[in-house]
Amino acid sequence: MSPMNLDTILRTELAALESASLLRSLRAADRVMLNFAANDYLGLSHHPALIEASRKATAQSGAGAGASRLVTGTDSAVLALESALAAWKEKEAALVFSSGYAAALGTIPALVGAGDTVILDKLAHASLIDAARLSGATVRTFLHNDPARLDALLTKIAPAGKRVLILTESIFSMDGDAASLRELVALKNRHGAWLLVDEAHATGLYSANGAGLVAEAGLSAQVEIVLGTLSKALGSVGGYIAGSRPLIDTLINRARSFIYSTALPPGAIAASHAAIDLCQTPEGASLRERLWGNVARFHAGLPAHWKRATLSSSAIQPLICGQASTALEFAAQLREQGFLIPAIRYPTVPRHTARLRITLSAAHGDKDIDALTRALMLSPPP
Ligand SMILES: Cc1ncc(COP(=O)(O)O)c(C=O)c1O
Repeated sequence: MSPMNLDTILRTELAALESASLLRSLRAADRVMLNFAANDYLGLSHHPALIEASRKATAQSGAGAGASRLVTGTDSAVLALESALAAWKEKEAALVFSSGYAAALGTIPALVGAGDTVILDKLAHASLIDAARLSGATVRTFLHNDPARLDALLTKIAPAGKRVLILTESIFSMDGDAASLRELVALKNRHGAWLLVDEAHATGLYSANGAGLVAEAGLSAQVEIVLGTLSKALGSVGGYIAGSRPLIDTLINRARSFIYSTALPPGAIAASHAAIDLCQTPEGASLRERLWGNVARFHAGLPAHWKRATLSSSAIQPLICGQASTALEFAAQLREQGFLIPAIRYPTVPRHTARLRITLSAAHGDKDIDALTRALMLSPPP
């Protein structure tokens, strides 16, 4: 029997995606556009302190780390970064991974497995879903931000002697709303479960020193596992877990995405450390203030024909369009006018909730925000 032709099959599948307006493709981003797509919420990716730290570390220690940390040993700069992260996150210890995705993929299967249960908020990020599936535990979801549903699920499961791990984001990546962290903590305590909070979109932005939403809520001691990324407000690349010493020691021994993957390059480690330091200075506070000012300006200027119910107080502003084709059309119109804004479609968000995902940054000036709200005036209402 002759084998089926790979390219023929893939072309058919890609055509089906395209006809459903769900095809993704890579576009060169070298045309100068106003960027409302990145997660660089404080504009740190271009901050001179990060660039200089990265340049110096690269010149001193090279462009790459060379191997996994368990093979070559750990550079003292990485240990210093992890100490800084742990102190900032009000935790005993921290461990850096090559990305936030890798942190989830390594950590969750290291803690739970067959016979255990992972419960996720229905809108939790793909990295958490993939990690939960990889763990082999039973995977359940609860209605987005609905602690009552979680309570009911926890009551029903009640597994004797088995582990239950709850996964949520603190600021949700595609909606920008916040989890009810206090209620989640109360529930996990009552039911004897563990809680992992993904602070990808909160790190650098909340609490007096920017540590995140868990710290702002005064819950650092109660949340067993804090996950995050160095790639969004911190302007660099990499992921991390902050938690107890036994948790971190367990991950060093069991998290496969840590053990079997090359360490981050010295430049990224140095840039991340500079970003964490900067977040805790008055300059960091004033960048956060600038960001929240931009959020307020965007809310005030957004034309009335856009649904306002889904706007958030975070840096992430979803404008719901419904159909994928409508979101694509709006994104293309805005691109023509020089605005980089992604159309977010299924499977990143549920079907029929396709949206423009606008992200605001301290790097935007008043003129940029006003230009955006003017452009949204021109777009036909969804
Ligand atoms: C909520 C959330 N968690 C984790 C990640 C993954 O982080 P990273 O980009 O560092 O892999 C992302 C980013 O895409 C995210 O939005």
